[in-house]
Amino acid sequence: MIDNNTKKIYIETYGCQMNFSDSEIVGSIMTDHNYATTDKIELADIILINTCSIRDNAEQRVRKRITVLAKLKKKQPNLKIGIIGCMAERLKSQLLEEEKDVDIIAGPDAYRDLPQLMDSVENGQKAINVLLSSEETYGDIRPVRLDPNKISAFISIMRGCQNFCSYCVVPFTRGKERSRNPETIINEARELFELGYREVTLLGQNVNSYNWDENGQMSFPDLLQKIAEINPLLRVRFATSHPKDISDELIQTIAKYPNICNNIHLPVQSGSSRILKLMNRKYDREWYLDRIASIKKHIPDCGLSTDMISGFCSETEEDHQQTLSLMEAVGYDYAFMFKYSERPDTLAAKKFKDDVPEEVKSRRLAEIIDLQRKLSHQSNKKDLGLTFEVLVEGFSKKSEEQLSGRNSQNKMVVFPKMNYKKGDYVQVKIDRCTAATLIGEAIL
Ligand code: SAH
Ligand code: SF4
Ligand code: F3S
Repeated sequence: MIDNNTKKIYIETYGCQMNFSDSEIVGSIMTDHNYATTDKIELADIILINTCSIRDNAEQRVRKRITVLAKLKKKQPNLKIGIIGCMAERLKSQLLEEEKDVDIIAGPDAYRDLPQLMDSVENGQKAINVLLSSEETYGDIRPVRLDPNKISAFISIMRGCQNFCSYCVVPFTRGKERSRNPETIINEARELFELGYREVTLLGQNVNSYNWDENGQMSFPDLLQKIAEINPLLRVRFATSHPKDISDELIQTIAKYPNICNNIHLPVQSGSSRILKLMNRKYDREWYLDRIASIKKHIPDCGLSTDMISGFCSETEEDHQQTLSLMEAVGYDYAFMFKYSERPDTLAAKKFKDDVPEEVKSRRLAEIIDLQRKLSHQSNKKDLGLTFEVLVEGFSKKSEEQLSGRNSQNKMVVFPKMNYKKGDYVQVKIDRCTAATLIGEAIL
């Protein structure tokens, strides 16, 4: 029950989809302990910032945000500020020392302890829990849905990562890889469908290595199949897949079910086998291109996206050219592109020199971005004249006369509203496009 004594929590989320999903888990834990979530920061008694450490600039953003919130605290002395998530885990008590206005620090596996941490803070202490667990999956927790859209939801199916890519901080901030009990995942998806949701995205750092082997074995393709069978009107997406274990079985499962979206996010990071080896990615250019060939064979219209890092340690102009040529060869529809940012304590920080000059990193990144813009536009132009099934997510950004949603390939499609509404599946024929959007009309 919410009364005047119920403390209100405002949760602000940075970083990856997993963090957004975790914020919903945190919301749920807190509402079970007589707290309420609010989407109005001015009403908050407690502000939690769910943070990311993936690149230095991700952490800098949070530092700036803490400075702004500290001013708010001056005006409102009872306000409490908590830092949760990856940056909390990476910096631990150092963060409490450096940021005097922070009251609570909780790492990604310590969220069940948040109500107790809050109690200590109410008693005037600072509170911290950054223990990592090899078992915690929050499997039994029904996340509160903070996203107002109510059509599409994230479901976390595994936690942690132990791939130790040499540049990456995640194995240190999220701990060991562990899979969540499939029964709880399937129940969560079914409940979402019954509530009117029409799309779920299964989340993990490495979803295709999902594996449950207590009382019956279940692999990722098995799990996908079970979720797809809940209802043909429930779309299923997943992220992120690691190229090292994207099997033909998985590709064939995606091909078999129309409601498993034809879209694979398969981060390659670099097109050079030499760099991939230094990155400890456990595949090379040939392996990656072979997996892409298999995807294109079984799912000819599959949407493909990637993550790219420019300027990793020792990257030469030739390595960079191989990245560009791989992008052309695959013809990605979309990419997230970054400059290499050295992270303390990672393998690369310990073993290699961050020796590509900043201006070279920036120039290479600009070339990658330019090429991707061209590839995205080309890919959209190929869709002109085609008809796609679009799940309506809401109004377009520009007008309430237009609706927007995504096709199976994950491309944004905009079309005139007519009598359609959020949650409908609409057949849309594409007649125009930009680099980022397909534009068309509903066909009856
Ligand atoms: N688990 C996913 C990626 C998670 S992190 C995978 O393995 O593909 C998201 C992306 O951030 C990575 O794919 C990578 O492109 C980028 N990234 C990670 N560490 C980085 C670093 N130190 N500098 C720059 N980009 C980084
Ligand atoms: Fe980081 Fe590699 Fe794990 Fe992805 S697979 S989270 S890049 S260590
Ligand atoms: Fe960032 Fe942690 Fe996600 S470092 S990318 S929030 S797992």
